[in-house]
Amino acid sequence: MGLLEKHGVIERNATLLLTLSLVVVCIGGIVEIAPLFYFQNTIEKVAGIRPYTPLELAGRNIYVREGCYVCHSQMVRPFRDETERYGHYSLAAESMYDHPFQWGSKRTGPDLARVGGRYSDVWHVEHLRHPQALVPESIMPRYGFLADTELDSSAIVGDLKANAIVGVPYTEDAIKNAQADLLAQATLDGDSTGLKERYVNARVADYDGNPAKVTEMDALVAYLQMLGTLVDFTTYDAKANYR
Ligand code: HEC
Repeated sequence: MGLLEKHGVIERNATLLLTLSLVVVCIGGIVEIAPLFYFQNTIEKVAGIRPYTPLELAGRNIYVREGCYVCHSQMVRPFRDETERYGHYSLAAESMYDHPFQWGSKRTGPDLARVGGRYSDVWHVEHLRHPQALVPESIMPRYGFLADTELDSSAIVGDLKANAIVGVPYTEDAIKNAQADLLAQATLDGDSTGLKERYVNARVADYDGNPAKVTEMDALVAYLQMLGTLVDFTTYDAKANYR
């Protein structure tokens, strides 16, 4: 009996075909999954990655609340057309403190994983208020109300605690000072030394250009401006992670 005819026996017996298919699928599954049990960590440590500051975290909550992920992804894939446009492809470590992650699955607008620092704060505020004023053909909705809405920071302590429970390394100190750190990052005349000790490279600014109050616009722009900026890619060595 030739090989093809032997295979014919399997093809004509539904039970045998199903059983053997299952065996093959199981082997494939084990080969893929088993190695993961032997890795210490599937996310490599990368210098510069830190948890979100309270203000950035509050901005991130607004990003999720407003459904920005419906139109924007946050993951630069390792393809030339993407890295030429957006910058270095996204690293797993860059979303290791994201609960939930914002990779997204739709790009009606551009990827935002590396939008931090690309525009000025003023640009972001103007763009969020009235996207068409800056990009006439834009179909992005207007979010001007964020600049009129005072940021409710009453839940931020609980927010840091919840993130700590799922593994984000917020210290007792960071949790205790969450509300003060939030205010310090959005006001230029506050004391931000504690904030800067707890969060490396935290940027202090009056993000919405309105010193009178801390608004949801402050928080969202603070979040957008730090996206993709934590890792210094002039010194990052991808090969170091394979050793
Ligand atoms: C209906 C889809 C849609 C939604 C919802 C949406 N956007 Fe956009 N966004 C776009 C489009 C399209 C563009 C490109 C045109 C432009 O710049 O306005 C864009 C551009 C942007 C840019 C500029 C990106 C770049 O690299 O030039 C930022 C920043 C941005 N959006 C942030 C947000 C935020 C924050 C939210 C949620 C508050 C949001 N968008 C919601 C469609 C959307």
